[in-house]
Amino acid sequence: MRILHVAAEIFPLVKTGGLADIVAALPGAQARHGHDTRVLLPGFRGIMAGVPELVPVAQIGPVFGAAAVRLLAGRLSESGLMVYVIDAPFLYDRDGNPYVGPDRRDWSDNHRRFALLGWAAAHLAFGELDPDWLPDIVHAHDWHAGLAPVYIRQNPSLKTRAVFTIHNLAFRGIFPLECYGETGLPAELLTPSGIEFYGSFSFMKAGLVYSDKITTVSPAYSREIQTPEFGWGLDGLLRERSSDLSGILNGVDYSVWTPQDPKIAHAYTAQNPSGKKLCKRMLQKEFGLLRDDESPLFAVVSRLTEQKGMDILLDALSDLLDSGGQLVVLGTGKAEFETRFSQAARAYPGRIAVHIGHNEDLSHRIMAGADALLVPSRFEPCGLTQLYALRYGALPIVHRTGGLSDTVVDATPDTIASGRATGFVFDRPDSRTLGARVREACTLYHNKECWRKIRRHGMLQDFSWNDSAAHYEALYRSLL
Ligand code: ADP
Ligand code: GLC
Repeated sequence: MRILHVAAEIFPLVKTGGLADIVAALPGAQARHGHDTRVLLPGFRGIMAGVPELVPVAQIGPVFGAAAVRLLAGRLSESGLMVYVIDAPFLYDRDGNPYVGPDRRDWSDNHRRFALLGWAAAHLAFGELDPDWLPDIVHAHDWHAGLAPVYIRQNPSLKTRAVFTIHNLAFRGIFPLECYGETGLPAELLTPSGIEFYGSFSFMKAGLVYSDKITTVSPAYSREIQTPEFGWGLDGLLRERSSDLSGILNGVDYSVWTPQDPKIAHAYTAQNPSGKKLCKRMLQKEFGLLRDDESPLFAVVSRLTEQKGMDILLDALSDLLDSGGQLVVLGTGKAEFETRFSQAARAYPGRIAVHIGHNEDLSHRIMAGADALLVPSRFEPCGLTQLYALRYGALPIVHRTGGLSDTVVDATPDTIASGRATGFVFDRPDSRTLGARVREACTLYHNKECWRKIRRHGMLQDFSWNDSAAHYEALYRSLL
C-alpha cells in the first residue's frame, strides 16, 4: 500500500510531545511490513535544516497568503524514511514551536499554516504535485492535519481513503468564522453537521466528520471520548461515528528507548539490572540529590500542565518527602507550575531537583536512574513516558485513565502474587489518592525482592510497533 502520513511533528527534528515519536516510528514500522510509506510535513526550521538533500518536486505558490511555496522531498538521515516537505518560508520559517511563538501565544495565522498542510496532502492525492506517487491512504494526525480529509472529499471520484487519528482531543484547532474563507473550502460545509463548531470552526471536527475511519491512540480513550466528560463537545459526533472509531495503542521504538541506549552511562537488562543502580547514583550526583541507595527516586518527564496532573503532584509532595522519597522533575509548561516546582527544589535541596526545559538526552538518563515515574494525568490519550519507564525499570505510578489504564497493571496482593503487576494505578486524580499510592510505593520499595520482581516483569513487557502496525494495516485494507 502507498500510505501518506500528514503531521506537524517528527522526532528528532521537531518535537513538542508524543506525536513526534509516533510519526517517526509508525511509518518505519509500516515500511518494514512492506508498505511504501511517506510523511508530509510543514517546512519548519527544524525540518528544513534536518532533512539532508531536499529536492524540489513541485512549485505550488502563491497560496494561503504565501507567495513562494514549493514541495520538496528527501529522506531522513537515520531511518531513511521518505518525507515531503512544504517549503513556505513566509508561513513556517519562524522562531518558537510549530503552534506558538516565543511569547507562547498561538500564531495568528495558524488556520492558514495548517490549512496548507491538509491542502497539500489532498493535492498530492489528486496527483497534481508528484504524479509518480499517488497514496492509497492519507493518514492525518491531530487537528493540524484535520483539513486533509475535507480537501480530499472535494474530489468525489478519488480512490484515496482518509484515516484520521486523534492524539489529543483537548486541542481542537478552533478558529473564528471570519477565517473560514481563507481555507478555500465551500461555504456549505460550515454547518453544525459539517465543520462549524459552536459559532467557530474546528480543524479537529473537520477530521472527524470527513475521514473514512477515525482512530485514537488507546482502546480506553476511544471509549472515554464518547462521553461528555472527555469529549470536549465532540462526544455526540464520536458516538454517531462509533462504528468507524477504534483505539489502536501506540507502540514504542525500542531502538531508541532501551536501557542499552548510548545516552546512558551504564547499560543494563531485565536479567542483569545492576547497571541501573549506577545510573541512579549518577542521576543523584548530576542533580545534587543525596546519594542514598535506600531512598526511592521518583521522576517526572512531562509537559507541566493541568492535563498531566502537575498541580495534583505539587500538592502531594509532602507525602513523597515524608516517606523518604526523592524527586527529579524534567519539564516545561505552565509558568505557575514551573515556579512551584523550582520553589520546592529550593526548599528541599538534596531531596527535590528540577530542570525546566526540554532535554531529550536527560529524559533518557532520568528513565534509567529513576525507581519510579509519576504520571498523574487527569486524562491521557495514550501516554508514552509510562511505556518508556517500564522498559527502563522505573515503575510507573499512573492515574487510571486512557492509555495509562491500558498499559500498567496495578500492584495488588493478587497481581503481585500472580506475577502480573508492573506498576501502580490509582483511581482518583487528587493529591490525597496520589499521595497514598506514593506512600505505598515507598513501603514496597523496601521489600526488595518484591520490587525487583515487579520491575523485571515491567521491563519484559512488549509494546513494540508490530501489533499496532498490523492493526492499522487491517484498518486500511478494510477501506480499499
Ligand atoms: P504528550 O504527547 O501528551 O506530551 P506523551 O507521554 O505521549 O505525552 O509524550 C511525551 C513525549 O515528550 C515523550 O517522548 C517524553 O519523553 C517527551 N518529553 C516531555 N517533556 C519533556 C522534556 N521536558 N524533555 C524531554 N522530553 C520530554
Ligand atoms: C498526545 C497525547 C498522548 C499520546 C501522544 C501520542 O500528545 O497527549 O497521550 O501518547 O499524543 O499519541
